[in-house]
Amino acid sequence: MSRELDVDLAGPDRAQEVVDVIHRAFAARPALDPPATAGDETVESVAAALEDHGGLIAMRRGLPLGAILFDRSRPGLMGLRRVSVDPLGRDRGVASAMVGVAEDVAEEAGMDGIWLHVREELPENVRFWSHRKYRPVRREGTTIEMGKTLWLAREVPDADAMRDLAARVAGLVRAGDLLVLTGDLGAGKTTFTQGLGEALGIRGPVTSPTFVIARTHPSLVGGPSLVHVDAYRLGSAAEIDDIDLDATTDESVTVVEWGAGMAEQLSDSWLSIAIETRAAGPVDPVGTASGVLSEDMRVVTIRPYGPRWLEVPLRSTLLA
Ligand SMILES: Nc1ncnc2c1ncn2[C@@H]1O[C@H](COP(=O)(O)OP(=O)(O)O)[C@@H](O)[C@H]1O
Ligand SMILES: [Mg+2]
Repeated sequence: MSRELDVDLAGPDRAQEVVDVIHRAFAARPALDPPATAGDETVESVAAALEDHGGLIAMRRGLPLGAILFDRSRPGLMGLRRVSVDPLGRDRGVASAMVGVAEDVAEEAGMDGIWLHVREELPENVRFWSHRKYRPVRREGTTIEMGKTLWLAREVPDADAMRDLAARVAGLVRAGDLLVLTGDLGAGKTTFTQGLGEALGIRGPVTSPTFVIARTHPSLVGGPSLVHVDAYRLGSAAEIDDIDLDATTDESVTVVEWGAGMAEQLSDSWLSIAIETRAAGPVDPVGTASGVLSEDMRVVTIRPYGPRWLEVPLRSTLLA
């Protein structure tokens, strides 16, 4: 339980507490070959790391129980080093709480993703990160680098802005990619697909398929074609299987409208794009432009799933 647990940003003034937690946590681990270098950390080295990159300390009833050192040396990415939980307070709540705060910090700093290193000899640790959607990126010896691309939500004021957002997404996609669009009828899924198709340089027009469930738009610029699927009428996952998209997805960018829970089986990676019509807020009594309620406002939430999106700069490309 993480009750009464506080996770605070740690500056160099917390170096002594942080280094103590690191030493206690790593001393309790099984010996590894090569050994973890955490034992070499000193109050000076930790103070320098906290000064340059920051970090976190988790406190329960005045006792430091967990710590993380940040590593901001890679542009757009937040590294997590020395993820430590005191064996006295060893429970997943401490680590989870720290990871949650670390993700918030990375998001607020406008970062695209998070990386960390984990030893494969510690399968419990690998499972901890896997459970939180961190995926292996590369390995060196017995050290696995795991990473996670952060999701984003954006306000999209009108249909043109939706096409612009889709054009930015087009700059990130390649043949074999699957995008799953969800949202009510009229939310803007087809509008998004139009913007995507235009930016990809495919032969249009992209329309709501009426009789055809899937339509292939060939590229006019030697790039991937666009397969546009409207799964709105499909009742089940079995039916989407029937239309045999697997055959085409390798050479195309595939967009499935209204496919939540159905299209994911086509690929081990996909980009989920959820479009919500914004609930009407109060009208600004002064009547300034920002207070004028717009029927057109949408909120688009983009979440990457699977290894394909690791290290793709989603947030910096789409929020800029
Ligand atoms: N912010 C917005 N984003 C997308 N479409 C918008 C927006 N505001 C208004 N619209 C309009 O809403 C309609 C969306 O229709 P469509 O893209 O076919 O929706 P869907 O495919 O989700 O059913 C279009 O007429 C579009 O011009
Ligand atoms: Mg549509």
